[in-house]
Amino acid sequence: MAFIEWNDRLATHIKVVDEEHKFLIENLNVLYEVSTDRTSATEERDKLARAVLENLGYYIHTHFVVEEELMRVFQYPGTDAHKAEHKGFTDKITYLAGVISEGGMDISIALLTFLKDWLSTHIMETDARMGKFLTERGQN
Ligand SMILES: [Fe+2]
Repeated sequence: MAFIEWNDRLATHIKVVDEEHKFLIENLNVLYEVSTDRTSATEERDKLARAVLENLGYYIHTHFVVEEELMRVFQYPGTDAHKAEHKGFTDKITYLAGVISEGGMDISIALLTFLKDWLSTHIMETDARMGKFLTERGQN
């Protein structure tokens, strides 16, 4: 079973946002598989996991830009609070990725669970509110 699975409760009903969320979820599953793969050598596994985490970080950043641009265009009233959540998460990921790349920390189940929980909660609450506002104004 996948580490995190897409389900309808995660839908914002904004096509581009939902497609990107699905891609994020797929990539988080890849990160989980790579970092928990006990069949490969530790060093090789960690190197691959770090590369996957780095890509995930870039992708999350560009995904946030897409959401923030939609909020700006539609003059969404919750934009500032939503952007602050994105920034808090981005700062934390940047910090953690730095610690991990310096060998100060492993990509652990605790980190993977943090990513999963943050993304699920953010999508189901904050992105859902944005999705409702945008779909009511004709965006899909
Ligand atoms: Fe968001």
